[in-house]
Amino acid sequence: MSRHSIAVIAGDGIGNEVVPAAIECLQRIAGVHALNLEFAHFDWGSGYYGRHGRMMPVDGLEQLAKHDAIFLGAVGSPEVSDAESLWGLLIPIRREFQQYINLRPVKTLDGVASPLAAKHPIDLLIVRENNEGEYSEVGGRMYRGLPQESAVQETIFTRLGVSRAAHFASVLAASRRGHLTSATKSNGIVHTMPFWDEIVEETVREYPGVTLTSELVDALAAHLVLKPWTFDVIVASNLFGDILSDLGSSVTGSIGLAPSANLNPEGNFPSLFEPVHGSAPDIAGKGVANPVGQIWSGAMMLEHLGHPEAAAHLQAAFESALRDGVGTRDVGGTSSTSEFTAAVLTAIDALSANYTLSPGGVAAS
Ligand code: NAI
Ligand code: MG
Repeated sequence: MSRHSIAVIAGDGIGNEVVPAAIECLQRIAGVHALNLEFAHFDWGSGYYGRHGRMMPVDGLEQLAKHDAIFLGAVGSPEVSDAESLWGLLIPIRREFQQYINLRPVKTLDGVASPLAAKHPIDLLIVRENNEGEYSEVGGRMYRGLPQESAVQETIFTRLGVSRAAHFASVLAASRRGHLTSATKSNGIVHTMPFWDEIVEETVREYPGVTLTSELVDALAAHLVLKPWTFDVIVASNLFGDILSDLGSSVTGSIGLAPSANLNPEGNFPSLFEPVHGSAPDIAGKGVANPVGQIWSGAMMLEHLGHPEAAAHLQAAFESALRDGVGTRDVGGTSSTSEFTAAVLTAIDALSANYTLSPGGVAAS
């Protein structure tokens, strides 16, 4: 039996609703696929901040480093500034654990209507550079409260940072439809973005099966609304990737559907799996949050841990529940979080025969 130790940070708001739902589904899958998933829960986040004045303990990263993966809900609360909650937990994890890829799939799901009249199914991957770029600590504020008050924030792009994101995206594109789109803004941002463009172009040249289109991010945003089905893999800087992935998931139906993986591809540190959405204080505590983004992130975690058949089984189960017309309010349904989760558990059982492991460990579907 494969054993994996998973650090769980449910965090704030709906994180405390969608994480338990997803863990229930992961446990059910583990039972079918002979996996021993051990979940270690950490109560870090804004509540912890209220009690201890920090988002996680001083040795938080050391504690997390002992686990094989991290499963996170969302952090952010009206009581703690967003800069504090993000820079006190998620950003240190992403950076210290060199999770330099943030992989965000965007896909049409049967049973979920797009707010747009999409003519063809959407199936694209956003590769967001996750360690540098616009999200930097370099800068400062001067003359607070005076008329000459000013703020400076520097963007940092490195050859290593850009090229490894471009390599990762090229490998993915080569395994799919071979089309890579790079989000740029080299007309307005004249130092860092031309540097990004040059390194992406030079990297993609090493992959003869991949064609590269460099697109200004404003036009790309419009294109993502008008013809989302034409994209295959999009590689983008930290900020552009963040914005484009909320847009992409909304085009397929709801931000509540969108999963993400913060990957350290070398496996030197644990990777982190979390939905794209935040803590949604407007619906927290009502039991109506869509758990699909969290469950799908769990499927990406299974895949990363070396269990593609278990991942495919979990993916097929939530897709089947949606196809049967079960869904939370954000996708036009009437189910609560727990009703939807129950439907996924039923679908896991119903589909088990297709995904049962053969003695050799290969799916016998
Ligand atoms: P949000 O993603 O939490 O919510 C945006 C809108 O989408 C809200 O109307 C919300 O109700 C809806 N929504 C989000 N997830 C949903 C789900 N699973 N099911 C149904 N509806 C869903 O973004 P917002 O409101 O900008 O941020 C709220 C807090 O979350 C802030 O403190 C922010 O800093 C934090 N945040 C944290 C993130 C993280 O932990 N990675 C990512 C984004 C925001
Ligand atoms: Mg975001």
